[in-house]
Amino acid sequence: MARSRRAYRCQECGSSSLRWSGRCPACSAWNSLVEEVPTPARGAPPWGPGGAVTGAGAGGLAMEAAVLAEVDAHASRPRPTGVGELDRVLGGGLVPGSVTLVGGEPGIGKSTLLLQALARLAAGGSRALLVSAEESPQQVKRRADRLGAGGTGDGLWVVGETSLAGIRSAVEQVQPHVLVVDSIQTVWDPEFDSAPGSVSQVRGCAQALVHQAKTTGLTTVVVGHVTKDGALAGPRVLEHVVDTVLTFEGDRHHALRLLRAVKHRFGATGELGVFEMTDAGLVGVDDASGMFLGDRRPDTPGSVVFPAVEGQRPLLVEVQALVMGSNLVMPRRSASGVDSARLSLLIAVLRQRAGVSLQDREVYASAAGGARVAEPAADLALCLALASAASDRPVPEAMVAIGEVGLGGELRQVSQMPRRLAEAERMGFSLALVPAAGARPGAGPGQPAGAGGGLRLLPAGTLAQGIALALGK
Ligand code: TYD
Ligand code: MG
Repeated sequence: MARSRRAYRCQECGSSSLRWSGRCPACSAWNSLVEEVPTPARGAPPWGPGGAVTGAGAGGLAMEAAVLAEVDAHASRPRPTGVGELDRVLGGGLVPGSVTLVGGEPGIGKSTLLLQALARLAAGGSRALLVSAEESPQQVKRRADRLGAGGTGDGLWVVGETSLAGIRSAVEQVQPHVLVVDSIQTVWDPEFDSAPGSVSQVRGCAQALVHQAKTTGLTTVVVGHVTKDGALAGPRVLEHVVDTVLTFEGDRHHALRLLRAVKHRFGATGELGVFEMTDAGLVGVDDASGMFLGDRRPDTPGSVVFPAVEGQRPLLVEVQALVMGSNLVMPRRSASGVDSARLSLLIAVLRQRAGVSLQDREVYASAAGGARVAEPAADLALCLALASAASDRPVPEAMVAIGEVGLGGELRQVSQMPRRLAEAERMGFSLALVPAAGARPGAGPGQPAGAGGGLRLLPAGTLAQGIALALGK
């Protein structure tokens, strides 16, 4: 076996190099290389170089080959947690033996969500173990009482433990069906010769938990804190090791919380879970559109409603813009909840194709209520918000706008149109500005969109036409 050699590991991306440098050669992060002494592998190393799990049998499992036709696909059916919005995102619930990573900024509500899920599971007859490496069992108990989740009988166990060995023996003692480790960044194992929270510790401990899950069928959920730039603190490598990655986000100053699956080995990733943080913990929100539009003020220039679709779920979001004069050579552009590169592109298209120049103006654009719109289908709504703010004229209160804007200033069709229109109609909107190409044959201006006839379509071929229809130029 090769002599163990010193290496320098990037704490951001996990890549290793033999020489120290001020900047990681792989991900270009500054000052992220930390010296580590690699631990010599014992026996057959289940993981390949770079830490990725290497295909089937990864994790050192002695799995037997099986004829595919005889594999029981239902053996790994998801089990509901009892928290409806969480189950929706997971496509039914937690799959036995799976490992799920829940990422989010500190204070967003990860511990609350998982405690509520464990309490429901325990109430449903499962045995659940919460490894609380950050909060004492007393703190967990106080929170459970606050959540009305205290009376779970003997199904919910808690241990304040940070060492991997301690977690293993707690699992041995409790024999749980579901294990939650909160958080992975505080778990450590002396086998890995580096500080808790470093990439080798986090990855090594996560791999050990994955190994445990796969060999014993223990459903495992680990919490991971996210750095301010949105990356799972350091260990991006973790995402490859687990089956499912959920992100929990929202504006900490708003009550709304959005749960998404960014990776899911057992189902679709597009589903969105919506919660409201209340005094009694997280409450699922059925009417997300109503929630997002709750604070909307009619007749405000720069405000346009966009019917988004996340997974199977339509969701009305208010896109806002503010435009003002600037003395700066490079006027400020700020985007929150909308993509900043897309914003710059649309500002250019507005100027070249629709005669709306924002060149010497400061531009602020956002999705209200902590929402995030990443779909190109929101282009038209964002452009209208900018044009409306620039001209100080409001868009009709009962109008929604849907459409992708091309570089030629043309409006392009988008997916899931019927679902978007139905949601706008349900929320009481009566006008929908849509791409002309996407409107149904025979549907001229003012044609009813759905069977209800409460929503009328306004088809526009170009961005300039759309602005004229909305702002009455
Ligand atoms: P927490 O679950 O501890 O966040 P995380 O584990 O992601 O760091 O939630 C922290 C915040 O949630 C905290 O600031 C208080 C708030 N909160 C409520 O508003 N209501 C509640 O019932 C609970 C338990 C927490
Ligand atoms: Mg927490």
